[in-house]
Formats: sequence, structure tokens, C-alpha cells
Amino acid sequence: MQLDRLLIQTLESWHRAGVSELAQASEVQGLLEAAQAVPVTKARHAVPSTPAPTRLDVPSKSAPTHIQNTPSKPNHSEPITKTSAPQETIVTKPSLPQTMNREDRINCLAEIAGRVSKCTKCKELAETRTQTVFGVGNPEAKVMFIGEAPGADEDKQGEPFVGRAGKLLDKIIEACGWTREELYICNILRCRPPGNRNPSPIEADNCSEYLQAQIETVDPDYIVCWGTIAAQNVLNSKTPIGRMRGELFERGRARVLCTYHPSYLLRNPPAKKLVWEDLKILLAEMGIDPDKK
Ligand code: URA
Repeated sequence: MQLDRLLIQTLESWHRAGVSELAQASEVQGLLEAAQAVPVTKARHAVPSTPAPTRLDVPSKSAPTHIQNTPSKPNHSEPITKTSAPQETIVTKPSLPQTMNREDRINCLAEIAGRVSKCTKCKELAETRTQTVFGVGNPEAKVMFIGEAPGADEDKQGEPFVGRAGKLLDKIIEACGWTREELYICNILRCRPPGNRNPSPIEADNCSEYLQAQIETVDPDYIVCWGTIAAQNVLNSKTPIGRMRGELFERGRARVLCTYHPSYLLRNPPAKKLVWEDLKILLAEMGIDPDKK
């Protein structure tokens, strides 16, 4: 392929990842080298050429995209059957996940976790936490789960979803035919809000830099947002979860499913049926038949 086309494709892929400007000539040189070395289309989690049919008419991920001005606060809450808004990002350094092998991702996540462990942006949370709860799982996960914030058990153990809601989540994971180890699991916040109150918008905003870095490093094909806080922050929306569930959205390269939080299911078991309906949409999109697992 011609170098200029590779260059344009690479620029487009960086732009989709949120890079709007290159600071130095050396970055332009790096871009030229990357364009020569790496095919821009991803092979790692290639979307099947004939995706499983869904009730959604999902546009192909490889459809051409164009460099355009990114609005400062895009709303990601339009389902992908309508428009797919460009991704908001805080990243200042170009990242090319397709060039990152497993070890690179592990190192990158460790570096972010190191910064998180020292974070004091939310004074109250930093003063009251036992430890930060960064995220766990497969650095190359195809599916990323995003919850709300650590609770008491997570704060104690340093791992997301290990309490009662986590036990229910484990059952849901099993019903989908997955294991916890093959997924990547994290939260909107990395510190426990005292008394398990909801994260404030400022806290979510403070922590979004880390979430964004985790999403970019793991680069999942699919994201599941568990509950209102996750859904609204990941998609930058104010729409209630009851209206976001039941369809897929796009955020950058990932398709996003929003559904009820496991803690809500503990309080309201009949809603489990709705969560299962939601997950079946995702599984169908992934070409997985849960009854065949
Ligand atoms: N609830 C969440 O949203 N996340 C956790 O890690 C635990 C409970």
C-alpha cells in the first residue's frame, strides 16, 4: 500500500482514538514508521466478515471514517443504528493498541495502576480509602466490564466485584459461557465512596483519565456498562438506564451494552430477566449462542 494512504489511515485511526494534534516532529516521524510497519485494520479481534445477525442493523466497523472536528463533549448515547458520535478522550499521547503485545499492555496497565495508587484528585476518597481498586483481568480482553465504584469488600481486597454483587456477576459471567479471567473488569471510580454513596460527577470526571487509559490499553471490542453510573459516564449521557438498555452503542472502536447493575438485581430479582435479554443481544452480536456453551 502507498505510504501516503497508510499515513492517512494511521492518522485516521489515531484521530478516532482521540488524537487531534501531533506535538513534535519526532511524533510525525514515529507516525511514518508506524504507518510503514503496521496494517491499520486490526487483526487482533477482527469483526467476523459476516457478523451474526442481530435485530440491529449494525454498520461494519471497517466502514471508512473521515477526519473531522471532534465536538468538545460528544454524546455517545445514540444507538449505533442512528449515528455514532466520535469518541471523547483525554489522551494526549498517540497510542496504537494494535502494535501492543500482551507484555506491552501489562506494562502499560501497571504504569497506570501506579499513578492511580498515588492519586489524590478526590480528597475525600483519597483520605478514606483503604486502597485503590484499579481493575483486573485479561489485558487483551475482547469484553470489558465497567461497574460503578468499589464497595467495602472491594476496598478491603483491592479487586473489583468481589462482594455480593460480584458473586452475582460471577454467575452472569458463567451463564454467558465466559470466565472472569478472560474479561477485563474495572469501574468508573477507583476509590470507594464513603458509605457506598453514588460517585459525584466531579469524582467520575477526575477518574475518567484512568478509565480512558485502561480502555485504550485493553482496546476491547465490547464494553458492558453495569448500571446507570457506568452507562452515563461511558456514553456521556444523561439518559436513564431503563432507556439505554436493550440496544448497542458505539464508543470509539467498541460496541457498548448498558444494563442493570448486579446490586440492583439483588434488590429486584425479576430484573434479572431483562439483563439476560440484554446480554443475549451482545452474545448474538459476538456470534455466541449461550445455549450451546
Ligand atoms: N459495585 C461496583 O460497581 N463495582 C464493584 O467493584 C463492586 C460493586
